[in-house]
Amino acid sequence: MNKKLRIVVLVSGGGTNLQAVIDAIQDGTITNTEIVGVISNNPGVKAMERAEKAGIDAKCVSPKNFAVRADFEEALLAAVQAYEPDLVVLAGCMVVIPEKMVKAFENRIINIHPALIPAFCGTGYYGLRVHQKVLERGARVTGATVHFVDAGTDTGPIILQKAVYVQEGDTPEILQRRVMEEAEWKIMPKAIDLIANGRVKVENGKACIADYTFGEE
Ligand code: GAR
Repeated sequence: MNKKLRIVVLVSGGGTNLQAVIDAIQDGTITNTEIVGVISNNPGVKAMERAEKAGIDAKCVSPKNFAVRADFEEALLAAVQAYEPDLVVLAGCMVVIPEKMVKAFENRIINIHPALIPAFCGTGYYGLRVHQKVLERGARVTGATVHFVDAGTDTGPIILQKAVYVQEGDTPEILQRRVMEEAEWKIMPKAIDLIANGRVKVENGKACIADYTFGEE
């Protein structure tokens, strides 16, 4: 059996994607993987409660405890590195990942974005705001994307995407929930499982997945 992939999950709020990963490891949808730590930039959030309930080490590194942004970034990197992870998973993490961390973990940080990149992404597109913009634009299809994190905002190699239809009468909240249920909670665990089993590599700025039929997630 392969050595288990050590993952650290970075969160900011509700932690439903974290929960999907915890559940998928427990039920065997994700194999060869252990969550070695959860780090939140916000204290007292539901995501930390979820980690603790699952017996996972959880800590908070808040920018509010640092006078200078660079010191927060150093502390965040040190906290991540202390877990010696193979992969850093941004699961609803609202912190812009410092360049130093991107370099230290090249092609070893993944993020879930609640839209089909390159639509509705980039600076200012996060959380509920993404769904608001989708509805404002009158888009018929949205979805979610798991991608590697590079120095840009939502610009790294795409690993998996799943489409979700917008429905008449959707509010941002209703749409957010549907995108989570139908896309995010499926493709995030799937991407981790693929990485844990050595099936994902990055070549010429694109992610390649061995023996994979898109749509099977
Ligand atoms: C999720 O919809 C995730 O895709 C989004 O925030 C939500 C967090 O929910 N992430 C971003 O917008 C990142 N740019 P969760 O805390 O319940 O997983």
